[in-house]
Amino acid sequence: MSSPGAIGVFDSGVGGLSVLQHIRKTFPHERLIYVADSGHVPYGDKTPAYIEQRSHTLTRFLVGQGADAIVIACNTATAAAVASLRDTFSIPIIGMEPAVKPAVAASKSGVVGVLATVGTLESARFAALLERYGDEVEIITQGCPGLVEQVEKGELDSAHTRALLERYTAPLLARGADTLILGCTHYPFLAAQIRDVIGANIMLIDTGEAVARQLQRRIHSELPQRASGDGTTRFFTSGDATAATRIMSALWGDTATAQTLPHEFL
Ligand code: DGL
Repeated sequence: MSSPGAIGVFDSGVGGLSVLQHIRKTFPHERLIYVADSGHVPYGDKTPAYIEQRSHTLTRFLVGQGADAIVIACNTATAAAVASLRDTFSIPIIGMEPAVKPAVAASKSGVVGVLATVGTLESARFAALLERYGDEVEIITQGCPGLVEQVEKGELDSAHTRALLERYTAPLLARGADTLILGCTHYPFLAAQIRDVIGANIMLIDTGEAVARQLQRRIHSELPQRASGDGTTRFFTSGDATAATRIMSALWGDTATAQTLPHEFL
């Protein structure tokens, strides 16, 4: 057995915790290290070059902490940076993208809606997904500016959040969508509120569990000799540690004490 590694996970902010929850369930004994890039959130309105540079910085930090596999728990960062991260780091890098394939398979009305950041929807990777599945069903996209910020503030139930959810889901439902893809890792934290707005009959598709399974496959095939870790989870932020601790603990469902990243990674 080689010495235990760690799984490094990052997102623009706290959204990736929705993926980390699935990773923790799948790997109860792994050492997990999570970075919220709260000092640079949201990614959705940044340029691909900016997000790529941040993704490299955070990955360098995680590798320095002993991570031997990286999960980009962010659709927007995957679109901007997964290819160049894979070119640079010779460890498994698991990305994620809106779950169009399962949504297409699940839809009965033949109309699927995608809720995501503008950055994800405008990316070449997402265009390739549409190209691949867009003939089978009608795929309608909806950028959701402001939603990530509501989750970052912990305002899951406010009137403003509800107004945004109504505004973003109404056009998709009006066009007959029976399946909505949560194409940003912040949105699963709003699943109950979205459900409240759209009613019981619309399917909601999330990618977190599939990402954890994919990570498991990659670790088994590429790091077969790996010893289990100590089951700890550590949290870092490039933003305010006190604010991050408060919101992360609320979403994680347990104390999640955030440390500030070392200066050179901010
Ligand atoms: N959570 C991220 C995603 O999955 C992006 C959020 C942001 O815009 O910062 O796309």
